[in-house]
Amino acid sequence: MNDWRDIAKTEIHLHLEGAAPPDFIRQLASEKKIDMTGVFDADGNYQWVDFVDFLKTYERACEVLKTPEDFKRLVEAVLAESASHGVVYTELFLAPDFCGGGDLIAWKEYLAAMSEGAVAAKNASGIEARFIATCVRHMGADQAKITSKVAAETASGLLTGWGMGGDEAFGNAADFSYAFEQAAESGLGITSHAGEVCGPDSVRETLDSLPVSRIGHGVRAIDDPELVRMIVEKNIVLEVNPGSNISLSLFKDLKLHPISALRDAGVKITVSTDDPPYFHTDMTAEYTNLHQELGWEISDFNAINQTAMQAAFCDEITRSKILKKFEGA
Ligand code: HPA
Ligand code: ZN
Repeated sequence: MNDWRDIAKTEIHLHLEGAAPPDFIRQLASEKKIDMTGVFDADGNYQWVDFVDFLKTYERACEVLKTPEDFKRLVEAVLAESASHGVVYTELFLAPDFCGGGDLIAWKEYLAAMSEGAVAAKNASGIEARFIATCVRHMGADQAKITSKVAAETASGLLTGWGMGGDEAFGNAADFSYAFEQAAESGLGITSHAGEVCGPDSVRETLDSLPVSRIGHGVRAIDDPELVRMIVEKNIVLEVNPGSNISLSLFKDLKLHPISALRDAGVKITVSTDDPPYFHTDMTAEYTNLHQELGWEISDFNAINQTAMQAAFCDEITRSKILKKFEGA
């Protein structure tokens, strides 16, 4: 197959704000007269030099996202883009911190608006979406408790997960256990970024102290064979984002990326894009590169999509409906 755009795909690691097309952010900035100097490069792409700078640009771009209506428009735009790459099921990370700062009444309005956006997108293209509320690690554990409380109190409908992004080097995973337990008790599925910019110890600490069934990235676990065995034994699914990792220079190219080694060791892996316009990628590019550089075929893609749906934070009817698309071959 030469064109990987049209084949059905799932994605379980996509940041809503990080998926905002640059034109979308520029449009809102001009409507609201917000200065975006330094956010974009001469070609109009997001501009950053390293991971910490990426997070800064990300937060600057988020300044234009103010009202529930802005977030509804963003959800529709992002899901339309995903559907155009064959994505049939996706999970979007979204941060309550950018949607009312942890205020429950405000958050409910944002969540209702984003849910309307997802319903409109589903009516337009058929794409199924679920939301994973995330705390921002470098905002600290006290703020995470506030955001997990609002997430726990609104755990229903499309809000099915809880997670953590932000600067992995900030604090210890254990600092966030209260926030994570609170979210888990409400029935939300649980994931956390770890083993992206920090090494295996960060993954180990996350597995030891947070009730996760999935890890965002986790790829740096490859440096610790004992940890890789633990990931397999605990049945933890990795949300791998190869293009993101290469763009952030964690690995030089796909041949040097640990996705194959992890898979060969028996780790359950999936493939997503993380923050596609920041990292100059999309789901078609991810599949095309895996095919061209690692020789992946439709059976390999069916396998990762089955893994993703088995680990998806959704109801059983949706899970079996989407799983059917990846049976056979
Ligand atoms: N890593 C960690 N935190 C994030 C990211 C990411 O790629 N995108 C948005 N928050
Ligand atoms: Zn991420």
